Amino acid sequence: MNLPQPSLGTPQPLARPRLTFIGTYAICFAELGYDVLGLDVDAQKIELLARGEVPIHEPGLDDILRRNVAAGRLRFTTDYAEAAEFGDVHFICVGTPQRGDGLGADLSYVEAAVTALVPHLTRQSLIVGKSTVPVGTAAWVEQLVGKHAPAGVEVEVAWSPEFLQEGYAVEDVLRPNRLVLGVRSPWAHEMLLAAHKGVFDLAATEDREVPVVVTDFATAELVKHAANSFLATKISFINAMAEVCEVSGADVSQLARAIGYDDRIGKKFLRAGVGFGGACLPKDIRAFQARAQELGAGEALRFLHEVDLINQRRRSRVVQLAADLLGRPYGPAGPDLTGFRIAVLGATFKPGTDDVRDSPALSITRKLRRAGAEIALYDPKGMANARREQPDLEYADTLVDAVTGADLVCVLTAWEEFRYADPSHVASLVRGRRVIDGLNCLDQPLWIAAGWEYRGMGRPTPA
Ligand SMILES: NC(=O)c1ccc[n+]([C@@H]2O[C@H](COP(=O)([O-])OP(=O)(O)OC[C@H]3O[C@@H](n4cnc5c(N)ncnc54)[C@H](O)[C@@H]3O)[C@@H](O)[C@H]2O)c1
Repeated sequence: MNLPQPSLGTPQPLARPRLTFIGTYAICFAELGYDVLGLDVDAQKIELLARGEVPIHEPGLDDILRRNVAAGRLRFTTDYAEAAEFGDVHFICVGTPQRGDGLGADLSYVEAAVTALVPHLTRQSLIVGKSTVPVGTAAWVEQLVGKHAPAGVEVEVAWSPEFLQEGYAVEDVLRPNRLVLGVRSPWAHEMLLAAHKGVFDLAATEDREVPVVVTDFATAELVKHAANSFLATKISFINAMAEVCEVSGADVSQLARAIGYDDRIGKKFLRAGVGFGGACLPKDIRAFQARAQELGAGEALRFLHEVDLINQRRRSRVVQLAADLLGRPYGPAGPDLTGFRIAVLGATFKPGTDDVRDSPALSITRKLRRAGAEIALYDPKGMANARREQPDLEYADTLVDAVTGADLVCVLTAWEEFRYADPSHVASLVRGRRVIDGLNCLDQPLWIAAGWEYRGMGRPTPA
């Protein structure tokens, strides 16, 4: 396919299409000056958004939502006919979770969104997949569209994976470090550029460039799975080094620092800890393996199975450290931690979000609880979601409440509130000065000086 490449950072002379976002990633595009309609099947979510309330914790998003709703650029609906009538470009951003019966991705939400929208379309439209999907999905969506589009209405498909990071979503959407456009025709290409004109305009005013990779469907789909697999592999690599450090007396923090100075390796994503979680990396590396297997290339991604196993082992490692610190043997069924109160600091899968999906912190907490410990869990932003997901855990309203009377403190999400907590003050509240630093994010010498027995991940036990 011979498509014209856009010149970097230069806005194309095209009108701004009206955009719909199905699965509601809509807010930031209104900030970029587009007329936007967000659609979701979750009526409660839509009601909140229409009132100017963001249903998730995402720094900076509330202001942008309120400003753009007030300006009349941003509306919300649950009505597919309204979306079809409104939009020229329809972004599909619905979830693609792991299937209940295996490693593969559940594409039923994508199918439901496409088949609900397409029959209502009355003019030439572009459907753009943003969800993370197995390679081959865009071509399948094209077939669905062909089956459901009204006669005589031209509907095209494109795929443009979303790279935003939770906690940085606003910045990542307004100032993406690249755009990947999987298209089949010059018209789809031009429409997608027009749908991102606001991104190019903003970049031009800040003297930046937004690199654009224009490619075929399969490559666009694979880019996202490949990127997430690389990140997961980097995290598991340093966690594998942590395992080796633990049996050899070395310190993985210093090892990471030393190898990170090599800019072919880089410093980022080299912090050993409780491993990755969230709604993306774990399910994406599994869906990638499942799809590669279906296509006959399963061997090529066998290492991702190992990446997953290393990641899971880090969660058990915290329970081993807890048993060790509390002086309980670690038998074949794990330790018996009955009689101990453990303060768990952190529930979200990383700081800056309220998302607890596949969170290492919650998974470790369940293991500690199963071992018989009494738990007091506190998180600055994730309490509501954690309570919904794990209603049977004991929750504390503040850090102080959580640590008061604890025999062990486990820091499992690297929130600033925990990283910069005063170890002497915390020491005055606990029953036992024992701390597990699940992210190697505490000031180790300071905690030790305050009388704490400290255990990090992949770090030697201090003498
Ligand atoms: N969360 C992230 O940081 C992130 C980053 C990049 C890519 N992605 C990808 O984006 C996609 C969405 O991720 P998410 O975390 O926002 O998922 P999510 O499950 O949190 O949100 C999806 C939304 O889609 C709605 N929805 C489901 N079916 C629908 C339908 N038929 N019609 C309209 N709305 C429907 C749901 O109600 C929900 O509000 C996934 O493929 C994910 O892998 C997510």
